[in-house]
Amino acid sequence: MPYRIPFNKPGLTGNELRYVADAITQGHAAGDGSFTRRCHAILEEKLGVPRTLLTTSCTHALEMAALLLEVRPGDEFILPSFTFVSTANAFVLRGAKPVFVDIRPDTLNMDESRLERLITPRTKAILPVHYAGVGCEMDRILEIAARHGVPVVEDNAHGLFARYRDRYLGTFGALATQSFHETKNVICGEGGALVVNDPALIERAEILREKGTNRSKFFRGQVDKYTWVDTGSSYLISDILAAFLCAQLEKHEQITVARKRIWEGYYGELSAWAASQHVQLPFVPPHCAQPYHMFYMVMPSLRDRQDLIEHLADHGILSVFHYIPLHLSPMGLQFGGRPGQCPVTERVGDCLLRLPFYNDLTESEQSEVIDLVRQFQCAD
Ligand SMILES: Cc1ncc(COP(=O)(O)O)c(C=O)c1O
Repeated sequence: MPYRIPFNKPGLTGNELRYVADAITQGHAAGDGSFTRRCHAILEEKLGVPRTLLTTSCTHALEMAALLLEVRPGDEFILPSFTFVSTANAFVLRGAKPVFVDIRPDTLNMDESRLERLITPRTKAILPVHYAGVGCEMDRILEIAARHGVPVVEDNAHGLFARYRDRYLGTFGALATQSFHETKNVICGEGGALVVNDPALIERAEILREKGTNRSKFFRGQVDKYTWVDTGSSYLISDILAAFLCAQLEKHEQITVARKRIWEGYYGELSAWAASQHVQLPFVPPHCAQPYHMFYMVMPSLRDRQDLIEHLADHGILSVFHYIPLHLSPMGLQFGGRPGQCPVTERVGDCLLRLPFYNDLTESEQSEVIDLVRQFQCAD
């Protein structure tokens, strides 16, 4: 059944289609053209980081991170079980074992108080995921990681331009990854970026992304010929997509304004109902500035979550849930996952629901969603 109010709708901010046409007519539609360079410049300047590299997805940026850290069979990496499969798979592809940590019940981020006990001599990386773009407790995570000499890779798929203690997410770890998938705030359909904060990793990151060649150096005039110098793959994005992304990045403040209105609308209008029904709304600690990426609710039970999804669907509104706890997935079980291992993740995996959220959600559409949610009475 087609939904009258979808969960997500890719939005335009104005210049996207003109820039895409420019990318084609100016004769360079492959990777690392002028639009890719413009995107890199915007990201590097705004985030204040030494190097960003556009990639075909956040998944591929995570794969690059695993390659850069030379992750090998027998290694371990620590990540929340409550995340998208790519946070795990990128490192599992290199033969490493995921070690799952539970999440905090308030922000749904990695529970930093449970991190240290999971570190072993085989731990090759710690991957905090800034859920909904609300920062993980980076002070504590970085302190633990530094004490054990383990690099941090931030999965910042949700949190572009969000801040923790006035510093942008994605600038804390040796590496960080961004997503420009159509469900994110700033989009190009499918796309991502690797943020390289450790200058020692920049040159190799450029090589891995360019099929294991030193092509970037060649284009900068630093070598006469480019050739095969390392392992690698093709992780760079077409300049056609970079053109679309560039238009969005230039208007990211406008996007945030639109999303802030929607987030605050849901929060303000649903708070009283949520309190009466024992429904948990998002929590943003005062030292975190969020990007208004999504609006979720944690219902009292799985049954309430499923019933509310059905109630909204009956009225043509699509609401969705995620994530199935990774430690209980068929792959997670193969890595030793067991029920009860991450109790908060298991509860939230059963009970979380996301409401329609996109830049062009109109006030009347949102009012309709809010009215229907408020009609709903939880059974538990
Ligand atoms: C936390 C997290 N990491 C990684 C990804 C993968 O992003 P992409 O679709 O750009 O590969 C997602 C996708 O939604 C995500 O939610």
